[in-house]
Amino acid sequence: GKGNFRHFMEKELHEHPAVIGDTLHRMVSPATRAVGLPEDLGIDFANISRITMSACGSAFYAGLVGRWWFEAVARIPADGDVASEFRYRAPPLPRDGLGLLVSQSGETADTLAALRYMREQGQRVLSIVNVAESSMARESDAVLETVAGPEIGVASTKAFTAQLSVLACLALAAARARKAISAAQEARMTAALLEVPGRAAEVLEKDEAIQAIAHRVAKARDVLFLGRGNCFPIAMEGALKLKEISYIHAEGYAAGEMKHGPIALIDPAVPVIAIAPSGPLFEKTASNLQEAAARGGQVIVFSDEAGAAKLKGIAAETVVLPAVDPFVAPILYAIPVQVLAYHVAVLKGTDVDQPRNLAKSVTVE
Ligand code: M6R
Repeated sequence: GKGNFRHFMEKELHEHPAVIGDTLHRMVSPATRAVGLPEDLGIDFANISRITMSACGSAFYAGLVGRWWFEAVARIPADGDVASEFRYRAPPLPRDGLGLLVSQSGETADTLAALRYMREQGQRVLSIVNVAESSMARESDAVLETVAGPEIGVASTKAFTAQLSVLACLALAAARARKAISAAQEARMTAALLEVPGRAAEVLEKDEAIQAIAHRVAKARDVLFLGRGNCFPIAMEGALKLKEISYIHAEGYAAGEMKHGPIALIDPAVPVIAIAPSGPLFEKTASNLQEAAARGGQVIVFSDEAGAAKLKGIAAETVVLPAVDPFVAPILYAIPVQVLAYHVAVLKGTDVDQPRNLAKSVTVE
């Protein structure tokens, strides 16, 4: 049941801290506090030539964050495409390549077809699934489970942050196997990961601030989400969630791409939501937001204290989130964008758990 919550989605949003913690604890040894993958996974990251990732919807966005981590942290060439395109592109796949699928249900028809294609192309196939007895789990060489428990709301919430948690651990393990990071870097990043459940709980306490923003967003017809680097997929996740449950048109854009077209849309009626944690790309995003504000855009900022202070002059609204290592920012920043979509949908009176035209599991092409 939903207990004291109005919707399954609200309940599932509150499960983020526990689910992230449970998922991480499967892969982080309590004794050494180091990431270790299950012994029987059978994947030798030192000798993988390339990772090819495929998935649909939110799971695809999780996979895109994973791609970023594999490249930037583990220094493995990585690529990704939505399964409905990937399966028909007939991409040649390399020797010693790893195929990676991400899926809550493990039954999504296009993702399953992508998996089968990867196998035909001689890839070792690893699936990250939430349902252990799923078709994808059965047909994979290796499986990593997200420990999210059943997700009832059609809009994916806790399964998404659990997927990110698994991908972060995988990237750290791969980085170690490839000697891409030092022991000190690994220790710092593992510590940052282990802090995420606590920080996630703090994000959930920002509910009122996010509700205030929801009132503004609910009046809009179009919304732009901007992000960069490992938070660009979080901008797309925010846009997808808003479309899916509030029926407001939204786009997730790479902040630096804005001046190549979408900036033409900006006027006071189009909120611009920035996913802008402090980190190496912050100043770049800040200058894109400056451009949006100069054209009358209402800029809504999700950042930490330091970032919020720097954007004070241009932000119409700000949600101040806990400061975290930029490595783990996508896991944390996924939460407020989902909470925002939830509150906008409630204000609009839509069917939050069963949005129109959508199914929880898309088992037809
Ligand atoms: O079960 P899957 O993770 O394979 O599902 C993939 C997508 O259908 C799913 O993430 C969809 O985009 C969600 N409804 C998004 O909230």
